[in-house]
This record gives sequence, structure tokens and C-alpha cells, in this order.
Amino acid sequence: MKIAIDGPSGAGKSTIAKMAAKELGFVYIDTGAMYRTIGLYCVENNISTDEYESVSAALKNISIDIKYTAEGQSMFLNGEDVTDKIRTPQISSAASDVAKIKDVRCFLVEMQKKMAEKNNVIMDGRDIGTSVLPDAELKIFLTASAEDRAERRYKELIEKGIKTDYETVLADMIQRDKNDSEREISPLSVAEDAVVVDTGGYSLEKSYEVIMNLIKENGGVKYV
Ligand code: DC
Repeated sequence: MKIAIDGPSGAGKSTIAKMAAKELGFVYIDTGAMYRTIGLYCVENNISTDEYESVSAALKNISIDIKYTAEGQSMFLNGEDVTDKIRTPQISSAASDVAKIKDVRCFLVEMQKKMAEKNNVIMDGRDIGTSVLPDAELKIFLTASAEDRAERRYKELIEKGIKTDYETVLADMIQRDKNDSEREISPLSVAEDAVVVDTGGYSLEKSYEVIMNLIKENGGVKYV
């Protein structure tokens, strides 16, 4: 079974997808982490993320591995564990930039399709229902207002010890929404056959319950 969860940053996709994958015994694939890993490579190697040709040329030097542990998905860039390094605001913005580049998307979408061939998966991202897994049995578009999402993201960053303020997080969220929805290739959009869930007024528990009910109703009942 393939489940696609798309939506803007901070809507709760990864937390909910991770919990659901654990309950169902599915593989959880966080595709945003893959774009972040390429963003990190560019930042560390002084490759400007605006220079499409330089980023595309760098792809041949990038090897991304994903390993699964009890804690979840770990990301490796050319053999180095970069799981924590890819979570800073600087890398969020680099990831959003490289995600506009056609060669980057082809490189990662191919990897993502292959990963879904062999396993029952819950994959989260921006283009999973529309482009990576158009044949997914269930497509969910998880969303909330920019203010609600910024509030959550701000709390997460503070908990991780990253210094920031709410206004900066909100401005960054709005900028990323704009980048992700206005780009030419595979922009963030709702697949025709997706179920839209607004998590704005919901607690994490409530959002999870809504998603698990959708999964059960759409063929996932045998896994629960
Ligand atoms: O989900 P995230 O915030 O970790 O994603 C980081 C960036 O990668 C985000 O700005 C959009 C981009 N992305 C994408 O274009 N397509 C995906 N399938 C996943 C993420």
C-alpha cells in the first residue's frame, strides 16, 4: 500500500506520518529531508543555490543514503550522518531553492519511486500525490494557516535550542510557501483525488486520529 501525504511546511506531516508508519509497520519516507541534504551539500561546498547549472553539476558528487533506526529516518550525505545538520533555518531555505531545479527533482523523484516499489510506504512531501506516487491508494493534503504552522515550527526550533523569534519564523514560512507553490516544476498543489485535512484547530492527537481513520477507510484496515 502507498500513502501520500503532501502539504506546506509545518502542517504536521512528518510527525503524523511517522506515528502512522510505526502503527502500520510501513516504511516512512521523508522526502523533504532529501532536498535538505542536497541543500546542505551546496551550502557546505559554497555552491550558490541560485546557480542551477552548478547545482545540477554537483549531483554526480552527491550520494544520499537513508537508514532506519528505532528513532526513525537517518540521512547520510556521502557517508556522513547529517540527520541533525539539515534541520536549521539556513538549510530549510537552501532546500527550498534547490527544489526548484529540474535535475534535482528528477534525481530525487527517481530514488523515491524506487523506494516505494519494494515496501508499504507512507511518503511525505509536496509532490507525492501529484508526481511521485500518482497511483497511491490514499492521498492526503495536510494544511493549516501560515500563523498556526509558524507557531508550531517556532516551538520546535526553541525546543531544539535554535535561537529565533516568531516573526522571523512566520516570514520564513510565508516565503517558503511562495517558493514551493510558485515554482515551475511540480509546485505544491492538491492532487485531484486527495483528501484535504486542515489541522489548524486540531491537537496532534486529533490530527492523528483523523488520518488513521482515513487510512482504515481506504484499504489500510488490514494493516491496523
Ligand atoms: O518538508 P521539508 O520542510 O523538510 O522540505 C524542505 C523543502 O524541500 C521545502 O521547501 C520544499 C521542498 N520539497 C519539495 O519540493 N518536494 C518534496 N517532495 C519535499 C520537499
